[in-house]
Amino acid sequence: MAKAKTVFTCQSCGHQSPKWLGKCPDCSQWNTFAEERYEKAAHPRGELSLGTREEPAPIHEIRTADEGRVRSGIGEFDRVLGGGLVPGSVILIGGDPGIGKSTLLLQAFAAISEKGLTCLYVSGEESPQQIKMRAERLGIAAPNLLVLSETSLERIIEQVKKIKPGLLVIDSIQTIFSSSIPSAPGSVAQVRESSGAIIVLAKKTGLTTFLIGHVTKDGAIAGPRVLEHMVDTVLYFQGEGGHSFRILRAVKNRFGSTNEIGVFEMKEAGLKEVSNPSEIFLMERPLQVPGSAVVCSMEGTRPILVELQALVSRSFLAVPRRTTIGVDHNRVALLVAVLEKKMGAKLFDQDIFVNVAGGVHVDEPAVDLGIMAAIASSSRESVLDSKTVFFGEVGLAGEIRGISQAETRVRESGKLGFERCILPRSNSAQLKHISEPELFGVSSLAECWKLLF
Ligand code: TYD
Ligand code: MG
Repeated sequence: MAKAKTVFTCQSCGHQSPKWLGKCPDCSQWNTFAEERYEKAAHPRGELSLGTREEPAPIHEIRTADEGRVRSGIGEFDRVLGGGLVPGSVILIGGDPGIGKSTLLLQAFAAISEKGLTCLYVSGEESPQQIKMRAERLGIAAPNLLVLSETSLERIIEQVKKIKPGLLVIDSIQTIFSSSIPSAPGSVAQVRESSGAIIVLAKKTGLTTFLIGHVTKDGAIAGPRVLEHMVDTVLYFQGEGGHSFRILRAVKNRFGSTNEIGVFEMKEAGLKEVSNPSEIFLMERPLQVPGSAVVCSMEGTRPILVELQALVSRSFLAVPRRTTIGVDHNRVALLVAVLEKKMGAKLFDQDIFVNVAGGVHVDEPAVDLGIMAAIASSSRESVLDSKTVFFGEVGLAGEIRGISQAETRVRESGKLGFERCILPRSNSAQLKHISEPELFGVSSLAECWKLLF
């Protein structure tokens, strides 16, 4: 009798092997292989036909998707998606448990369904009563928003074909299972096949689909990596523990920029948009305290002012601590080395902590100068002027290099009441027409420190 074919699949990345392995050769995780029955793909990828035309068409004859973008009216949400939802697109959204993924999509769907589009919310985690309770809390009563508690892929597809909604959300993809695959719900095989089938359905019928995905311990969307390649857009909904701010970030977007972020605040009655994040991030800033500097970071097309805090204090450890939250740890180590070598700062026996207030992440070189100013300010116990904004990239020789979109940053700083900007000389030379805020162009750290201390 023929032996039933089995295959071992890494539950972390989807790598397959005929034998069990202790360590995945693909993603280097230990003990992630699980035995699965070998099945021919239930929904062969070859089925995926993206258009109706079989022949190549001249590019100018092809209609763009922009014409049909659906806006939810929630500005922050639409911005991250590149200006609204493209019909037929598939969006994967990941985030820690309890961060607000279900809340966000329920609010967005309610807003869209009010425009007359039928939205189907499929939950494999909550009963319709629980969803209703949440909707009541959010003040949602949208007649075009349909709710279904279901985990069977076949029954979901059946319902979609019957109802023909314009928008679908699957909360979450890890709970959905297809009866044609023997492995358990949540396994890589199930996630891959269920999402494959849903993506094919979305592309064929022009149904815009959101897939909610759980994340692993290190924050990546759980399940096969191929999932991220199959969908059009991958969003992450993030927030620091203890803060009520949430940031929606695109890491892949076939229909828009991946730099845009959407900022929300989790309140009693759901998520509220934060359309001017700078004001909120700077609201509780302490004035006249050493170690605090304001920087302007670009998030996509939008400048955001945030406060950088540094604390430098005597270390009692053999290897002093360098702890950072919200900025790149290695970048800070590099800047500290430059401070020691070029500016003669003595930091080898000091613990250094750098934090971005409000739980935001800034990962642009343009915040270098701000980080250094905050560290120097704390180490010298010397207060930086609270009406000054810093931006500039710092090189290893202590030179200050020009940055992109300087004018946008300067204007935003002016709008928020800042009076002075310290910026790279090459940028200030091009901004002579701006009189407010006052611009101080610097080309080296030494020059900048002369202005500050
Ligand atoms: P939820 O959307 O269930 O998170 P996820 O789907 O990502 O797991 O959000 C749950 C959290 O949000 C929960 O801790 C309570 C909080 N919350 C509010 O603070 N206000 C609200 O109006 C709602 C609906 C939730
Ligand atoms: Mg949820």
